[in-house]
Amino acid sequence: MKIGIDKIGFYAPHLFVDMNELAVARNIEPEKFTIGIGQEKMAIAPITQDPVTLAANAALEILDEQDKEKIDFVIFGTESGIDNSKSAAVYVHRLLGINPHARSIELKQACYGATAAIQMAKGHIALNPDSKVLVLASDIARYGLNTSGESTQGAGAVALLISAEPKILALEEKSAYLTDDIMDFWRPIYSDRAFVDGKFSNEQYILFFQKVWEQYKEKSGFGITDFEAICYDLPYTKMGLKALRTILDQGTEEEQQRLLENYKVSTKYNRMVGNIYTGSLYLSLLSLLEQKEDLADGSRIGLFSYGSGAVGEFFTGILQSNYREHLQIQHHRELFEARKKVTVPEYERIFDNTLPIDGSSIELDTDSDPAVICLSGMKDNMRLYINKLNQ
Ligand code: CAA
Repeated sequence: MKIGIDKIGFYAPHLFVDMNELAVARNIEPEKFTIGIGQEKMAIAPITQDPVTLAANAALEILDEQDKEKIDFVIFGTESGIDNSKSAAVYVHRLLGINPHARSIELKQACYGATAAIQMAKGHIALNPDSKVLVLASDIARYGLNTSGESTQGAGAVALLISAEPKILALEEKSAYLTDDIMDFWRPIYSDRAFVDGKFSNEQYILFFQKVWEQYKEKSGFGITDFEAICYDLPYTKMGLKALRTILDQGTEEEQQRLLENYKVSTKYNRMVGNIYTGSLYLSLLSLLEQKEDLADGSRIGLFSYGSGAVGEFFTGILQSNYREHLQIQHHRELFEARKKVTVPEYERIFDNTLPIDGSSIELDTDSDPAVICLSGMKDNMRLYINKLNQ
């Protein structure tokens, strides 16, 4: 039985800041951000969007009534979760009207959370071939204004429907993974911003990639020649390229060219969104599938997942027949076209406009947010959500 990705949904908030303008405001040469880091636009979450609403909006576009009946497991991977006890999956489960007889949980290991969720979903489907699992990867990356991590912020979510006989990508059995207790990036529970040792995190990302790639080759007997493309977790688009370059000499000129070209396509969406932590790898996969028109059915795609702290995994999937017919290409084009640029001062105001943490109530203006599912306020320390389709 094949198990894998049956549908992929994506959502990013409607606001972005231009990286050239951010660079000028920070007295930095724009090329550092656009070439050195490799980012053009950075998605900005208004106060009416949080990881729950981003994920729910991403899933909304892919689920039909039959999916909602069949889903019996909702797994939410996030590293910017909104509650230290209740899982974000439970909110999404209600907002989307999923079958009540479902398990709903949150998984955490930095950007690796959604990959762990997919592997868990795979096991669940193997035991329950008729069921479907909704995997959500949703985050708002915040390092702080004027910090060195600022240019690698972003916001957005990817929703993946995992099932038997998937229409898009069948996951293969062999995968390689690694854990090492390091402090390259972390966020203590009292902080809404991440702490990071930037250079160390870059080094560890590359080291983890090299280790799991070598382990994968040993386990599978495959090498570069067997891959049409490799997608990477992309905190910024230059990061994956640095890792890819370290193995390119294992392939012929033609193979190197192919992997580099496909890598470039796999970064298109990420360049316009920024870091979405858990969803970044899957946004890169989506970018490749939607933006590369002639990627043949049956191609093998490699996926490198890295979650600081740290856990890394390299796994693979095979593109299914007519997979392009099951993508939401037009919908995503419209989503990107409808976004609105904010100035740097506006972005700074949005960044600093946070929810109360003293128990006071707040009502938010959801009319100015085009998203279907929004955070409408807070009362008695509880977040209140609306689905505009149910109003
Ligand atoms: N034109 C072109 N390129 C330029 C340039 C210019 N005018 N000026 C500088 N550059 C280049 C630099 O040469 C450098 O390129 P290389 O890395 O290829 O040498 C690049 O721009 C970045 O320059 P710096 O290293 O000087 O940048 P920085 O000190 O501001 O830090 C960063 C960059 C470490 C990524 C920082 O933004 C950061 O800490 N970000 C958060 C951490 C992160 O994203 N780590 C990635 C791995 S961890 C992970 O993947 C998990 C996760 O999501 C966090």
